[in-house]
Amino acid sequence: MLIASLIAGVLVLTALSLAGSYLERRQKRRFEQEELARLLAQSSAPSNGRSPEPVPTSVVDTNRLSARLGTNKDGAVSWRPLALPNPHLLIVGGSGSGKSQTIKAVCHELRKATAVVVFDVHGDLAIDGATTHELHFESRYGINPLVLSLDPKGGGPVAQKEIVRTRLQRTFAPMGSVQLGVLDDLLRRCYEARGITQEDHASWRKDPPTFADLEERLAKDIAGTKTPERLQALKTKISTVFDCKVFSKPTLPIAATGITRLDLSRLGLDIQFLASDVLLRHLFREAMLAGEAEEGELRYVFVIDEAKLLVSRGKDDPLGIINRLATEARKYGVGLLLASQDLEHFSRDILNNVATKLVLMHSETAIRATASKLLLEKEQLQALKEPFVGLAKFGGTGWRRVQVQPYFARV
Ligand SMILES: Nc1ncnc2c1ncn2[C@@H]1O[C@H](COP(=O)(O)OP(=O)(O)OP(=O)(O)O)[C@@H](O)[C@H]1O
Ligand SMILES: [Mg+2]
Repeated sequence: MLIASLIAGVLVLTALSLAGSYLERRQKRRFEQEELARLLAQSSAPSNGRSPEPVPTSVVDTNRLSARLGTNKDGAVSWRPLALPNPHLLIVGGSGSGKSQTIKAVCHELRKATAVVVFDVHGDLAIDGATTHELHFESRYGINPLVLSLDPKGGGPVAQKEIVRTRLQRTFAPMGSVQLGVLDDLLRRCYEARGITQEDHASWRKDPPTFADLEERLAKDIAGTKTPERLQALKTKISTVFDCKVFSKPTLPIAATGITRLDLSRLGLDIQFLASDVLLRHLFREAMLAGEAEEGELRYVFVIDEAKLLVSRGKDDPLGIINRLATEARKYGVGLLLASQDLEHFSRDILNNVATKLVLMHSETAIRATASKLLLEKEQLQALKEPFVGLAKFGGTGWRRVQVQPYFARV
């Protein structure tokens, strides 16, 4: 009896001591993270190369993910997306300044740690080890805008019809209310023909229709009426979405880790916009459905070279996908890598929200606008005289010079 009590006592003491040290470790970690946040918020030292790396090495979780950009006179310069207020990076620079080569290098560095999805509009972002899906008339996969969200509160065919109508309206503006009504009815019948209804949540898991179904139904309606003008007008208006066949096939698979590259270079601008917009919204919806990300978790990095593709239509539209991602994606473990020749393509939201910026060589005429938007001196930009020489800003730190190591010099 005495021995049993002694053993029980020892066990209780051991458990208490283990719990104590666990709590102590958690408290220490929290303290370190608060310290990191304080450092990032306070540090505003100018980029003279003397400022230390802002991230204390003891915060192992957030430092785990690191993409080496290049070097400066203090050593390696790396982007640590999770150690910053958000995992977004914006690159701006003139033609030939090194944006695409930098993007490829960063993707390559992150390939083992997360799912990198590259939207390649020029077809020049081939990266070692990436799975490339060309999207065109004959490609195996496409992007199906009719895939449903399974979220019981905001999903199902009713929400999806609304999303598709809005996307098409945005792509093929102007579209009147009559045309939108016709489209809505066609889409409803497409879902119903597959046995999918709003009320029956289980039916949302069935194979969704594609734009091939929509095209067929529209053609049948035109053939079956004596007054086909309205239907014909709708068909003419959106015919490119049918002709390209990209939206008439199942959606391409996205690898859970590694680089998935969508080669959009064979598509027209409207279709590039629609395809990227639809896929980004689907992937973001998936990330939101999975709930808020754990600390240190990065589910996706979306890579958009030539960001004007997605922001040129209403760059200040808060519902524009890039603006939504820039403001909301971090919470759900989604990072953005954006590049453009001109900051004019980005809304104020994006400029304010993206924590990391890399400025590369500019043409003389573009210097003034960038300098004023990023609060840089014109001379600082004039000093970037060759490709891959840039200024980088990580969160609240000052600008620091960086010599980017291009992708072609790495692999
Ligand atoms: N494989 C390579 N080997 C050597 N130099 C290269 C290679 N690929 C690109 N370059 C050079 O690297 C520089 C930057 O090219 P990059 O394509 O990254 O520019 P960019 O900023 O994306 O330009 P753009 O806005 O026109 O797309 C250019 O001077 C280009 O000629
Ligand atoms: Mg480029």
